Amino acid sequence: MVAKTIVVANWKMNPGSFREAKKLFDAEKKAAEKARGVSVIVAPPAIFLRELSQSYRGSKVAFAVQNAHFGAGGAYTGEISLAQTKDARARYVIVGHAERRAEGETDDDTRKKVAAALALKMTPILCVGESSRTGGGEQFNVVREQLRVGLADVAASALGRVLIVYEPLWTIGAKTTMNPREMHQMAIFMRKCVVDSHGEGGRSLKILYGGSVDEKNAGAMLRDGDVRGFLVGRASVNALEFGKLLEAIERAQ
Ligand code: 13P
Repeated sequence: MVAKTIVVANWKMNPGSFREAKKLFDAEKKAAEKARGVSVIVAPPAIFLRELSQSYRGSKVAFAVQNAHFGAGGAYTGEISLAQTKDARARYVIVGHAERRAEGETDDDTRKKVAAALALKMTPILCVGESSRTGGGEQFNVVREQLRVGLADVAASALGRVLIVYEPLWTIGAKTTMNPREMHQMAIFMRKCVVDSHGEGGRSLKILYGGSVDEKNAGAMLRDGDVRGFLVGRASVNALEFGKLLEAIERAQ
């Protein structure tokens, strides 16, 4: 049997009200239930999480949070702990998204969050990727370092419980996505880095791609990019586009 394609719907700071969030979720849930061979993880704004997850009875959609604090509790004004998100039925947590790194999240923060998520039996979705390309190949150094630190506290035996997303900042919110051949090259490099740090288990690293994924480009990326799925921004906050994206993925598998 072909492994399922994983689609993470990262709603970012959208939509503006719970009513709209519920409508969007109901439509995406339907699309997810129709799509065979696709596993959907919805990452709504944390404030909508509990109400959405409590109203959902199915098993086709899982929930993620877009970020959480690694601490168990304490004086962290404005933060939400991983344990609190788990209590609201999040099974996954996005760690080190490019937009959060741009706001100051460090590699060391990602290391702590990945380890804390695993300790709670949640699945971290660790994002890596360079912010720009100048042609000198420095993206490989950036990605190697982000993987090295982010996975530093992950035992080799726990590697299979981590998802990695390659999402170069310059393809996020852009007009076009990256070339699948280049993604393939990066996937080979990423596996090699993790084989070097964690041993042979690095070969089966689950790599997703993120950055301007839509119904038009997803098929080619799935066929030629050596990826197991996608982290989707804009196309995940439009129910119609999301439905078409899942159909395109289903056709490409
Ligand atoms: P867009 O799909 O809107 O480009 O956002 C993608 C993203 O944030 C990947 O992680």
